[in-house]
Amino acid sequence: MRAVRFTEFGPADVLRVVDVPDPVPGPGEDLVRVTAIGVNYGETSIRSGKAARLFPWHAAVRGTDGRMGAEVIGVTADGRRLMGAATGDGYAELAVLGNGVEVPPHVGDHEALALLLQGSTAVQATRRSRLRAGERVLVEAAAGGVGSLLVQIAARAGAVVVAAARGEHKLALARELGAHETVDYSRAGWTEGVGEVDVVFSSVGGSVARQSFELLRPGAGRLVLFGFANGEPLDVTPAEVFGLGVELIGLWNPLTPENVREALDLGLKPVLGPTFPLADAARAHEALESRATTGKVILVP
Ligand SMILES: NC(=O)c1ccc[n+]([C@@H]2O[C@H](COP(=O)([O-])OP(=O)(O)OC[C@H]3O[C@@H](n4cnc5c(N)ncnc54)[C@H](OP(=O)(O)O)[C@@H]3O)[C@@H](O)[C@H]2O)c1
Repeated sequence: MRAVRFTEFGPADVLRVVDVPDPVPGPGEDLVRVTAIGVNYGETSIRSGKAARLFPWHAAVRGTDGRMGAEVIGVTADGRRLMGAATGDGYAELAVLGNGVEVPPHVGDHEALALLLQGSTAVQATRRSRLRAGERVLVEAAAGGVGSLLVQIAARAGAVVVAAARGEHKLALARELGAHETVDYSRAGWTEGVGEVDVVFSSVGGSVARQSFELLRPGAGRLVLFGFANGEPLDVTPAEVFGLGVELIGLWNPLTPENVREALDLGLKPVLGPTFPLADAARAHEALESRATTGKVILVP
């Protein structure tokens, strides 16, 4: 089969189409003919080596075998339509799923993929935040794959949603999805006027994460940390967390069948981004890394 792999960390062009043996499912696993592949920001970080630098203790991010493990949707030989995380090659024509979830027929392939890892992340982040009606919540990268779902979940929960992103068209999308207030964090002094927030959903890292942290309501605020898209970790000290009486909540790898089913059941509006042929996986990575996309980026074999 055809797959996309890489042999060294580097820019998107290290991704190459290669011919590899068809994968063989183990006991309890399913082989699917892949109909669509979801691209996640984390895969760009694995390919570039950023993830290996930031999380060296995680074997899953080292990328040493050059496979792009990814979320896929496809059909089994006996006609079941399943989606899940591929155990081996994910950017590929065939994939093996260990924990495939059956997708309801009324949900399209691309919509379903938008609710897989990103849906699981949004569901788990909301649960961990203990968000309550009436609270103020700041969502970073609010027009992205995870962010666009978090805006919707938080608005439905009765929170006052402040969507933060770069550029007016992303902020306009966040408003359409239910955000009550918007702020462009690429502008200097962007936190002025935002006011205190009870919850931050933080995925951007660096100074944006730091400034978001400083918006937390002392004695009550919670910051759910699930990404460093700009490659720089959030820099706060335990003394600051202690002295402000706030919580930092880390979130890693929330993809479980239960979270996927919950994301599917919520009836969220999946935001679809660009679709690329599998052979153009490098272009898909470039689009995500250059912050050009909103919503879900898809590859089609
Ligand atoms: N912890 C976990 O298990 C887990 C699971 C899934 C996703 N994640 C993380 O969640 C975040 C969102 O993932 P996603 O797949 O939905 O991606 P995404 O939000 O669709 O894309 C990333 C967004 O991050 C923002 N960003 C800010 N600074 C950036 C920079 N220097 N370079 C690139 N992007 C930058 C951009 O939005 P603006 O232009 O609006 O700033 C960009 O569109 C990522 O950080 C990802 O690693 C973590």
